[in-house]
Amino acid sequence: MEQNLPGGTWTLGDLAVTRFGYGAMQLAGPWVMGPPADPDEALAVLRAAVELGITHIDTSDAYGPHVTNQLLRAALHPYPDALHIVTKVGANRDAQGGWPPARDPAALRDAVHRNLRNLGLDVLDVVNLRLGDAAGPRPGSLAEAFETLAELRQQGLIRHLGVSNATAEQVAEARTIAPIVGVQNMYNLAHRHDDRLIDQLAADGIAYVPFFPLGGFSPLQSETLSAVAERLSSTPMSVALAWLLRRSPNILLIPGTSSTAHLRENVAGAAVTLSPDDLAELDTI
Ligand SMILES: NC(=O)c1ccc[n+]([C@@H]2O[C@H](COP(=O)([O-])OP(=O)(O)OC[C@H]3O[C@@H](n4cnc5c(N)ncnc54)[C@H](OP(=O)(O)O)[C@@H]3O)[C@@H](O)[C@H]2O)c1
Repeated sequence: MEQNLPGGTWTLGDLAVTRFGYGAMQLAGPWVMGPPADPDEALAVLRAAVELGITHIDTSDAYGPHVTNQLLRAALHPYPDALHIVTKVGANRDAQGGWPPARDPAALRDAVHRNLRNLGLDVLDVVNLRLGDAAGPRPGSLAEAFETLAELRQQGLIRHLGVSNATAEQVAEARTIAPIVGVQNMYNLAHRHDDRLIDQLAADGIAYVPFFPLGGFSPLQSETLSAVAERLSSTPMSVALAWLLRRSPNILLIPGTSSTAHLRENVAGAAVTLSPDDLAELDTI
């Protein structure tokens, strides 16, 4: 087991996790619907993540739906004590592969129980309330939805809460209802809308977990990024991950991949050292 993953560790509430984590969404079929083309490779990716020492895996019962949670259970249950699975609720899937919001209290309770069942757990370590829609965050109160999750936490079904795809106002509103340990929003070298929010959360000891750290369904493309990567004999993906680790100590990585080779490449690549000149150049993207 590799003990020294790039970035070291962070504590989510009372749960120690490696800052280099893994996002399981890419393990389902095309457009996150149905089973993967190569189920054995999907199981191998999850086992390799744990062997590499990763202790933070991000999932959702909406992936597949149910598919990634069932793969996680098949690959890793009973889970190592050190492993912490973070899931999210607040959206379902429709027959066209869309992500319709499902944030009324009954839908949220059902989603929490589905996650428990499919993951084979009695308690979920961290549950994020996913807000907004596929186009991004949308303003509006989260009170009813977040109060429902806070109740489920009081009942002992959830250890810690977070929010996802949220505006800064919604993050602030959530914190008036219950403590949060993380915010999971879209952020990467080319999409830096949350710069201020990241710094505020860092000051308060709350994690910021960028989704689409590599650009998601359309990989990051930038001449500057490619030039810096070439100079460092690295790759654009490695530099993009290393930059996130340098950006702020509260940033946790959950890059997605369906390939053990890419997983190993990303873990090794994120250790690349960026000089002040490299950082200044990347800042211009
Ligand atoms: N809260 C939300 O609303 C939300 C939304 C989206 C995602 N998420 C979470 O965030 C995680 C990360 O997002 P993501 O997986 O969509 O996007 P991502 O991490 O930005 O990028 C994943 C893509 O990059 C490719 N890739 C990874 N490593 C590579 C490498 N070394 N070389 C070439 N290609 C590589 C993957 O293809 P291969 O499979 O071929 O490696 C995949 O297509 C997800 O897994 C999910 O857990 C959350």
